[in-house]
Amino acid sequence: MQLFINLVYILSSVMFVFGLKMLSSPATARRGNMLSAGGMGLAVIVTLFDYQVISWQYILIGVVIGGLIGFASARLVGMTSMPEMVALLNGSGGFASLLLGWAEFQRGWTVVQGGGEQLSVFTASVIALAILIGGVTTSGSVIAWAKLSEKIGGKPVLFPGQQVFNVILLIVIVACGIMFSINPGASYAYTLIIALIVLALVLGVMSVIPIGGADMPVVISLLNSYSGLAACAAGFVIINNVLIVAGALVGASGIILTNIMCKAMNRSLANVLFSGFGATTSGAGKQAEGEVKSVSAEDAYFILEAATSVAFVPGYGLAVAQAQHVVRELGELLEDNGAEVRYAVHPVAGRMPGHMNVLLAEANVPYDQLAEMEEVNPNIEMVDVCVVVGANDVVNPAAREDNTSPLFGMPIIDVDKSRTVIVLKRSMNPGFAGVQNPLFFKENTRMLFGDAKDSIQGLVREFKDA
Ligand code: TAP
Repeated sequence: MQLFINLVYILSSVMFVFGLKMLSSPATARRGNMLSAGGMGLAVIVTLFDYQVISWQYILIGVVIGGLIGFASARLVGMTSMPEMVALLNGSGGFASLLLGWAEFQRGWTVVQGGGEQLSVFTASVIALAILIGGVTTSGSVIAWAKLSEKIGGKPVLFPGQQVFNVILLIVIVACGIMFSINPGASYAYTLIIALIVLALVLGVMSVIPIGGADMPVVISLLNSYSGLAACAAGFVIINNVLIVAGALVGASGIILTNIMCKAMNRSLANVLFSGFGATTSGAGKQAEGEVKSVSAEDAYFILEAATSVAFVPGYGLAVAQAQHVVRELGELLEDNGAEVRYAVHPVAGRMPGHMNVLLAEANVPYDQLAEMEEVNPNIEMVDVCVVVGANDVVNPAAREDNTSPLFGMPIIDVDKSRTVIVLKRSMNPGFAGVQNPLFFKENTRMLFGDAKDSIQGLVREFKDA
């Protein structure tokens, strides 16, 4: 039986790895998700044979209630609320690991009270880790959820002595963890475990409040990584191989995604976590020089009508305006008019990883028209028109040209190097970083002011009436 169970665990782990690999392309992502879910289903079923099942009724009730909540929330949640949903799912994962650690401690504690042997140092230390990482993930994810869903303000919460407080908190937690691990059967061990739970929850809150709402996607992928590490620790607590493997995969992939996002913003993880970005940066950088040239939908139509290659550059404003469907419609009209059309996607455009890809996929934009920044930039001089749809920071040339700008060094899509740029936004307001964009003042830039959806609908009408 044990051999069979371990073989199924290996099969599940292989399904997780291939599922993850398939998630890296939009064309295979859906199947990858199903494959990983199948692997998890197998692992759950076979685990029920592995351990002494105490109560089938409780397990069934748990599966039904959990399954219903998961199914209903996945169906009901809007595409734009995905980050909030992911935050809560991470929090649930962390909380499950915390509970598992606590339950295993309770079991060991009962044995000691009955005169039996205390937990080993190894088991006690992985229990402490599962509780610590699980606790931080739980409360951190709840704060991230509250910020994203605007239940609390999105601004960074900073107070004097905050970092010192956090360091002291961490030292106390580590001390509690070590004291507990060395002697988990001691009379004070119960108090230490409760202290560990409470302090881990406080640390989770303290770690997330100094981070601004718009940086939450980075934090969410980091918390996702933590939830994996907590599951991995929980796997060591109950010596369950598949939990260890799945936890390690989630932990590693979360940290890789965090790293990709930090690189795409040219910011270190420490800068995201500790700088309170967005609280102080507005107004930095040189003043832009030049004249802003605004155009009407009709003028913009004439520019587009003559173009043989067009690149759409979507940003956060596309999501706000929900302009993805009309953009695709305009793309098709341009193709009918003989132009080559592409969608140039910056890795951190929008407010969550893959934000633009999700919206464009929802509007059925063909995958082969999506191009990454690295593919577009080398030949961008050959593009007749770049249409910037609600993007700002990710096309700000100050990132290349102005070493006093907070964006300096951030990789951008070099739309200013194309022949003509049409920028769709409502006003001259800055983007997420709070800095002015010299692109709007360049010789080859035309501003089409207004809500992106309305502006594109205007362009679509011009094409249809022509
Ligand atoms: P932003 O720089 O935030 O600019 C969005 C622009 O959209 C704004 O300038 C706004 O101008 C315009 N806009 C808003 N609503 C609009 C509407 N209804 N119609 C037309 N335009 C509208 O966006 P971006 O270029 O996508 O850059 C993303 C930023 O978020 C980067 O700074 C990035 O570092 C940061 N960030 C992203 C992530 C991830 S994972 N994506 C994570 C953390 C931080 P108006 O108000 O004038 O219309």
